[in-house]
Amino acid sequence: MKKKIALLPGDGIGPEVMKEAVKVLEAAGKKYDFQLDYEEADVGGCAIDNHGKALPDSTLELCEKSDAVLFGSVGGPKWESLPPEQQPERGALLPLRKHFGLYCNLRPAKVFKSLASASPLKPEIVKDGFDILCVRELTGGIYFGKPKGREGSGPEEKGYDTLVYTRFEIDRIARMAFEAARKRRNLVTSVDKANVLTSMVLWREVVIEVSKEYPDVTLNHIYVDNATMQLVKNPHQFDVLLCGNMFGDIISDECAMITGSMGLLASASLNEKQFGLFEPAGGSAPDIAGKGIANPIAQILSAAMMLKYSLDMPEASDGIVDAVSSVLDRGIYTADLTNEREKAVNTVEMGDAIASVLIG
Ligand code: NAD
Ligand code: IPM
Ligand code: MN
Repeated sequence: MKKKIALLPGDGIGPEVMKEAVKVLEAAGKKYDFQLDYEEADVGGCAIDNHGKALPDSTLELCEKSDAVLFGSVGGPKWESLPPEQQPERGALLPLRKHFGLYCNLRPAKVFKSLASASPLKPEIVKDGFDILCVRELTGGIYFGKPKGREGSGPEEKGYDTLVYTRFEIDRIARMAFEAARKRRNLVTSVDKANVLTSMVLWREVVIEVSKEYPDVTLNHIYVDNATMQLVKNPHQFDVLLCGNMFGDIISDECAMITGSMGLLASASLNEKQFGLFEPAGGSAPDIAGKGIANPIAQILSAAMMLKYSLDMPEASDGIVDAVSSVLDRGIYTADLTNEREKAVNTVEMGDAIASVLIG
């Protein structure tokens, strides 16, 4: 039976890059002999415009009956004046993550050899490459902690969020980090702020406890402020970065950029049943939306992660990653990856180039 994929392109560059991801999946299907059944639905700002809310019931139902969700990006200036809970991010993306219990967010940041020059880091830092997996807790922490709200007025008016983690939440994401490290370089660096935040004292304690079950994996701890600067100074020192929700959000954008562009970083958001939502780490990029120049690679690599983590097709997944790599090796770049803008290819051309490597 064909696996069913919910396609939620969303807003801004989402629909532009989603088209290329589907094109590449279709090409991979020809090469690796599989077919997927796609069904598309509105989410985010376009769903507010077309259905009155960011996550329509019909979209949620489609996700529920699908084997995986391929998500583009949501949000943009058009919806920023709505009440915060109704906006695309808080009205659709966070509820989707919570509804499906997608607590484990994997964001792999690896430098493609031929892209060393796209990284803003000095060539001597990037030349030997680096390969970091950011494991971000995605359904807890300050994003979801209660109480959250506003009250009062005048100079004493308050806005507040709560940073809370339970032992259970820390334990299960830490296990994911240690398991991932075992398939890589056996090193976990846990990012916290245990020098200031009580929730992070518990975080560190629980991570240490879990680490005892993984004696073959080295555990280091780093404060988040130091982590941001060490990433710029010497990214090679990291293998798996284990982060809470907000630190992982921030650190992963930095990880994306040091590999060359926000348009390169894919992600998988998984629950305990390996059901997943797959999306680029970057957003709807309003500054370039509608111009046809967005880099589709993060979306394409998110589709590759979907094949690997939710559809049990590791070979086809690796085939897509190799195809991306070989296109970049040939010097085919979108505008975000090169200073020679006049030579850059557009979104569709990048998708075509990757698909044609697969079709041969
Ligand atoms: P952004 O990630 O959309 O853009 C940041 C910068 O990276 C921009 O200069 C943009 O042009 C560039 N960029 C991002 N993706 C790119 C790509 N594929 N190719 C080339 N360049 C790319 O972040 P932002 O501007 O802070 O946010 C814009 C909107 O997106 C906001 O509404 C935000 O809430 C939303 N957002 C959504 C998601 C999501 O849906 N998963 C993630 C992040 C931000
Ligand atoms: C991300 C995004 C989201 C987050 C926003 C859009 C809710 O920035 O996936 O990194 O903060 O998690
Ligand atoms: Mn983010």
